[in-house]
Amino acid sequence: MNGFKEPGMRNVGSYSSMADDDDLDLSRLPDRPKLPIERQRSCDERSMTELSINVRALESFDSLYSPGGMRSGFSTPVSTARNPFEPHPIIAEAWEALRRSIVYFKGEPIGTIAAYDHASEEVLNYDQVFVRDFVPSALAFLMNGEPEMIKNFLLKTLYLQGWEKRIDRFKLGEGVMPASFKVLHDPVRKTDTLVADFGESAIGRVAPVDSGFWWIILLRAYTKSTGDSSLAESPECQKGIRLILTLCLSEGFDTFPTLLCADGCSMIDRRMGIYGYPIEIQALFFMALRCALTMLKHDSEGKEFVERIVKRLHALSYHMRTYFWLDFQQLNDIYRYKTEEYSHTAVNKFNVIPDSIPDWVFDFMPIRGGYFIGNVSPARMDFRWFALGNCVAILSSLATPEQSMAVMDLIEERWEELVGEMPLKVTYPAIESHEWRIVTGCDPKNTRWSYHNGGSWPVLLWLLTAACIKTGRPQIARRAIELAENRLLKDSWPEYYDGKLGRYIGKQARKFQTWSIAGYLVAKMMLEDPSHLGMVSLEEDKAMKPLIKRSASWTCPEISLDLIL
Ligand code: GLC
Repeated sequence: MNGFKEPGMRNVGSYSSMADDDDLDLSRLPDRPKLPIERQRSCDERSMTELSINVRALESFDSLYSPGGMRSGFSTPVSTARNPFEPHPIIAEAWEALRRSIVYFKGEPIGTIAAYDHASEEVLNYDQVFVRDFVPSALAFLMNGEPEMIKNFLLKTLYLQGWEKRIDRFKLGEGVMPASFKVLHDPVRKTDTLVADFGESAIGRVAPVDSGFWWIILLRAYTKSTGDSSLAESPECQKGIRLILTLCLSEGFDTFPTLLCADGCSMIDRRMGIYGYPIEIQALFFMALRCALTMLKHDSEGKEFVERIVKRLHALSYHMRTYFWLDFQQLNDIYRYKTEEYSHTAVNKFNVIPDSIPDWVFDFMPIRGGYFIGNVSPARMDFRWFALGNCVAILSSLATPEQSMAVMDLIEERWEELVGEMPLKVTYPAIESHEWRIVTGCDPKNTRWSYHNGGSWPVLLWLLTAACIKTGRPQIARRAIELAENRLLKDSWPEYYDGKLGRYIGKQARKFQTWSIAGYLVAKMMLEDPSHLGMVSLEEDKAMKPLIKRSASWTCPEISLDLIL
């Protein structure tokens, strides 16, 4: 078919690790912060008896990872309904569908199409290779020991980045990476041509801020997985990284270290009220900066960027951990905020008016648990839950270990709301009625509990699984995967599900959506062999100090050096 190895024929030696200080090092896992054992209960206790996966690898991993090695149900292998060492029957089907989605350029595989849905009359732009959609496909192939396509993809997108990008009479920043591209085959002339979209054709002309970040994250995953650092070290890739960084590290009128964005600039690529400082982008920004730090050469050009990254990471982690974090205590504090505080001693730094806190959040917030809220800017806090941002915050260690645990606690406590019958809600809750009209501009695709507005996206399963493994809570992932397994193949791998519980196939969902397929495979492979986690995870950087008291965060220059460095 395409010369690739079949699943199962994994080249085990292919993912040697690049030993950099930031990365997850399994040998260091027992030193992770000791957390109260009771936090680990609930989902984790439901257990191995009901769920069927290859537990052998996980067991050794978990005994290393869990605090004190004391996890109920983990010390003894238990019989499962099916032979746990046999792959689930839908895995082979998933691989076949994933391979069908491969796109070729001059005979070389260079990516995967967004959806291979022949039943749908409208192709729209689902016949393209989306940068963000390709990430789970790439991880699946890397985990299966097939890195060629990923290298081709990274180089081709780099080449597209080099294009002069214009929309009408406006020239876009040099470092912008495309949202997607497609290959035009001319059967007569026998030529292949690449055509990219930088936002000019996208609905609402939205430029993808996340593409460049995903590109950097994928380059590190490739390097980590193959042990081949020559690609990342090549002058072209070094330049590509620097160009992306130039876009997001430039100085302006900012008073925050977060990145100012237009609505629809990420996976949520239509108007959904995420303009400002969306968590989805801030978490990816943080992760991309950390990944870039491990790959940038300390040569004359790279050195300056390294210094800027280090400073930004310190400021960004402080800002996010302090102001985006919400738990019961924090919510109560905000509820009691005074307004009109002026001066550096203000507690209510962004002048958030307590009356603007939506009612739902008071019921939603459990005593145990917390999360990074959607957005923080002057007098505006978007309290919605965003799955991708929270999972990436865990993977990048933007979240402290305590915050990571609290996010997992929240997922358990609010399982019905955030997972329901199909993992995972992209946002929670949905916006409705008047608010929906104002926020989405009456978008018929984003009606309540559909698509980006409270819809459930199977692709997010891989991010959830990675976060679960990192926090030592694999049973949560198992439970979610089991739910997905019951439906995905039967429903022909929909793009998203609708409804409060995610029970219905999405109104306009494509079938055979590639990232739904790849996301499932990556989740399965990661659970089977948790060492894959290192590709998409970064360990905590001890230099980034934990929280300091809110009222002390404004500092004059000499104090600030002491506090942040
Ligand atoms: C939709 C999604 C976007 C995705 C694209 C291709 O536009 O909102 O996140 O990248 O489809 O699947």
